[in-house]
Amino acid sequence: MELFERVDQYLVDCYVPSDARLEAALAASKAAGLPEAQVAPNQGKLLEILARSIGAQRILEIGTLGGYSTLFLARARPRQLITCELQPAHAEVARSNLAGLGVDIRVGPALDTLATLSGPFDFIFIDADKLNNVEYVRWAIRLARPGTLLIVDNVVRKGAIIDDASVDAAVVGTRQMHEYIAQEPRLTATALQTVGSKGHDGLLVAIVDSPG
Ligand code: DHB
Ligand code: MG
Repeated sequence: MELFERVDQYLVDCYVPSDARLEAALAASKAAGLPEAQVAPNQGKLLEILARSIGAQRILEIGTLGGYSTLFLARARPRQLITCELQPAHAEVARSNLAGLGVDIRVGPALDTLATLSGPFDFIFIDADKLNNVEYVRWAIRLARPGTLLIVDNVVRKGAIIDDASVDAAVVGTRQMHEYIAQEPRLTATALQTVGSKGHDGLLVAIVDSPG
């Protein structure tokens, strides 16, 4: 195991105590053959802390997968938690993993679902297909209030985002998102690289100053 994976294990042991529901969600996701693209436990806990820190009452997640990150967002006890998933098979797994928590799972292309939603949301987490990230961020701004917290996962892609010759759709989509946000005056944004059990990647954190 790489050093940063062992360090992540240590940090998770310190800060993310084993939780039957989280463990069951991981096991069910694996058994169903879902890609192991869910956030790391310590990243999920960060989402919980950020959502709680702003007292988020309405949370929107774009990209449910098996609902692992959704479980952390639900821990913030929002009044409403909507999560969008393209794949019916993934949403089925999430439905089971999130049973009883009152999470509203919307199945279908997120861009279609987003067009049906009314804001404002207090907290928006984008973690879906990377090619549509610019459009997801545009929707996040439309569905925000001043002060909405916006988080985007996977914004570094093993460093591939600095390769302007990349033809990887996820890299191209992520670069387009950075270039868009860099010139978007309605957001106050930053991005951080992360290493850990999920390899070398990064998180974008932004506040929506002016929705619309
Ligand atoms: C991929 C997507 C993710 O959301 C993630 O956290 C890791 C990888 C992917 O599509 O490759
Ligand atoms: Mg992700």
